[in-house]
Amino acid sequence: LDNGVGRTPPMGWNSWNTFGCNINESLIRGMADAMVNSGMRDAGYQYVVVDDCWMNPNRDSSGNLQGDPSRFPSGMKALGDYIHSKGLKFGIYQAPLDKTCAQYFGSYAGATGSLNREAQDARQFAAWGVDYLKHDWCSPTGSIDYQVQIFSRMRDALAATGRPILYSINPNSIHEKTGPMRNWGDVANIWRTTEDITLNWVTNQTNGYPMGIQNIVNVNVPLAHYARPGAFNDPDMMEVGRGTLTDAEQRSHFALWSIMAAPLIAGNDLRNMSSATQTILKNANLIAINQDTLGLQATQVSFDGTRRVLAKRLANGDVAVALFNQGSSTTTISTTAAAIGKSGSSFTLRDAWTNATTTTSGAISASVPAHGTAVYRVSGGGTITPPTTSAPSTFRLRGE
Ligand code: GLA
Repeated sequence: LDNGVGRTPPMGWNSWNTFGCNINESLIRGMADAMVNSGMRDAGYQYVVVDDCWMNPNRDSSGNLQGDPSRFPSGMKALGDYIHSKGLKFGIYQAPLDKTCAQYFGSYAGATGSLNREAQDARQFAAWGVDYLKHDWCSPTGSIDYQVQIFSRMRDALAATGRPILYSINPNSIHEKTGPMRNWGDVANIWRTTEDITLNWVTNQTNGYPMGIQNIVNVNVPLAHYARPGAFNDPDMMEVGRGTLTDAEQRSHFALWSIMAAPLIAGNDLRNMSSATQTILKNANLIAINQDTLGLQATQVSFDGTRRVLAKRLANGDVAVALFNQGSSTTTISTTAAAIGKSGSSFTLRDAWTNATTTTSGAISASVPAHGTAVYRVSGGGTITPPTTSAPSTFRLRGE
């Protein structure tokens, strides 16, 4: 979406993965403080996104949305002001039809959604200083054409406010098959491509909710040709730093989200991060790959069912390459400079994790632990052949 924002994937934090509905203004303020104090802001994280359950289930007498008075007694404008005072940006969650997802599942009653109130709600968000709207389809009906129509209304309403607001949509909830079946780049800056992420590496439920991280990668990789500045596939918020995943899995998660040009939206508690978690989330080499101004998502170079090689062309002529081991034991993964679109016979490889450099005449190879990912930034050589970006003939939904 060419609305001036989201020219590179958004980076930030969202309340849902760790806190669900257990949110309030002191928690969100504390997270804004932690984003600064932990160095996350300086690493590039910007948006503090308040997910579901912030709102009063009743609109006011003029039909305006309001924050839940017990959770957000100072009001949403004051929260936005606080977030802005920290040099950060304010994100909020809403639903396009009648109810949000938490409401749908029974915690509230009432038509809080934006249907037929798009202009009013967009003006309200702008007045609160909102910089990012997550608009989440949470109703049990809706053809793809209807979703396009409804999501486009809020796109236009946000534009009419004159405030630059990053537009994030989830066409996927409940209708889990609709997300990846369309290029949403004309409607939104980022769009969810899968069902909700969960704190598991792999889930056996290939038919939907929720999804393991590797299942999500399987779905998101073939959508690479949709990504461009202002328009990115969104494989959901990160589970890094939330426990249970192995260190290799957490590193893979971040490396793959980075090279897939995914939004880097942390979902962990920023107030008490381990140093291992901070090392992952603040990895400057991977963030630079993610934030590259060409806005390309890595395309697949090869995949044998276990060893997956992805490559992302970068603005300065370098190519980032990920060697991802989807198997359950250590294996060697190999590719070549030519296979990732480089010409020439002398290259430098910078390891994104260790920052060490090596030279090669073309071979690129690493021993990668189970579920791990090696990432190199490949420099040198001559002209670049862009990796193929043709559309896949079929979409792979839900990790199938
Ligand atoms: C859906 C979304 C999640 C989260 C919840 C909130 O499941 O996919 O990311 O926003 O709703 O209820």
